[in-house]
Amino acid sequence: MSEPTFPLPAAPQTAPVQTVAISLDDRSYDIQIGQGLLGRPETWAGLPKASTAMIVTNDTIAPLYEAALRSAIAPHYKQVHTVVLPDGEAHKDWQTLNLIFDALLGHGCDRKTVLFALGGGVVGDMTGFAAASYMRGVPFVQVPTTLLSQVDSSVGGKTAINHPLGKNMIGAFYQPVRVVCDLNTLVTLPPRELSAGLAEVIKYGPIADMDFLDWIEANIDALMAQDPAAMAHAVQRSCEIKAWVVGQDEREAGLRVILNFGHTFGHAIEAGLGFGVWLHGEAVGCGMVMAAELSQRLGKVDAAFVARLRAIIERAGLPVRGPVIDAADNAGHYIEHMRLDKKAIGGDIQFVVIDGPGKAAVCGAPDAMVREVINTCCA
Ligand code: NAD
Ligand code: GLY
Repeated sequence: MSEPTFPLPAAPQTAPVQTVAISLDDRSYDIQIGQGLLGRPETWAGLPKASTAMIVTNDTIAPLYEAALRSAIAPHYKQVHTVVLPDGEAHKDWQTLNLIFDALLGHGCDRKTVLFALGGGVVGDMTGFAAASYMRGVPFVQVPTTLLSQVDSSVGGKTAINHPLGKNMIGAFYQPVRVVCDLNTLVTLPPRELSAGLAEVIKYGPIADMDFLDWIEANIDALMAQDPAAMAHAVQRSCEIKAWVVGQDEREAGLRVILNFGHTFGHAIEAGLGFGVWLHGEAVGCGMVMAAELSQRLGKVDAAFVARLRAIIERAGLPVRGPVIDAADNAGHYIEHMRLDKKAIGGDIQFVVIDGPGKAAVCGAPDAMVREVINTCCA
């Protein structure tokens, strides 16, 4: 793993509109965070020049925000098209991806066309993958509308679709040209989705910033109540940490893997139950409890740390006990799914564990220990 540069820069004070820079040479871009950004034409100035824009969204988000985005970007383009995908993780697949290509080709979109991903992580990941491959690459803008996508998926250029055998197995690293997080869009988010997003917010504490975990613990009720100042700080600090990690390791050659804390167990839950049964954030929340339990068994953290993390995750409205994905051999099935994880090397599962508060590491673990964790943590 490449050595991270410590210390992580301190959090600047929250202001009404914040810009977090992500530094990646000629692929650098800004993350803009604020209220009401989406509907302002000035938000969309300075993007790559093009005659055509295509908004990619889904049938839940389109009635809420498509018209506002369309009228705000319209002054910058001759034509604005929209493609509306079916909503849901279960549609993060080839068939749905192809609807984007059908629309792009059907409208005669050229290689300068700018795609706008308006939605959560599913829309963002699919639009990014479409942008990476349409005419070998067109620019795209992330306009994340879920907490999870504002704090994680819209930043860093991971794009993908699922395969029935594994989560996000087919995709590309492809950076957006800008990320615009309009905090006002979060007010229409269902409570379950808010909790799912909080899982990824919480994740940043134990892996990189214990001060942030302290802040989350003290402000979890404000976050659950969508207090605007608390939400703004959570999004801003999460983006700063993610930008700091991705800026050092864009393609997950080392450090970036820490962002997968909780994801190895979580992806097994998602794939084991069938995509969309548990939300991604729910699976990650529970997966973090399991990964913390594993960290304790490996002697890296104590029981008090695990209990504290579990309590924060529970207070965020997330499940802390894993589902039974196979009645006959539950642990065996978890392990089978985890062997397909992208981090696995030659079938050996690699876990992101907490290597002391605020620091993550990657390691293997004996199958018997992993089974014990699964058996202890599953309902
Ligand atoms: P999602 O995209 O499915 O959105 C959740 C639900 O909320 C959907 O029904 C959506 O239509 C709805 N929704 C979105 N915005 C809304 C709003 N403002 N008001 C009301 N409803 C709204 O799920 P998600 O949690 O945003 O993203 C999960 C996906 O992100 C997973 O596929 C996961 O693999 C991916 N992900 C990717 C990365 C990455 O780095 N690329 C990181 C984390 C997660
Ligand atoms: N969400 C994990 C990553 O972006 O690397």
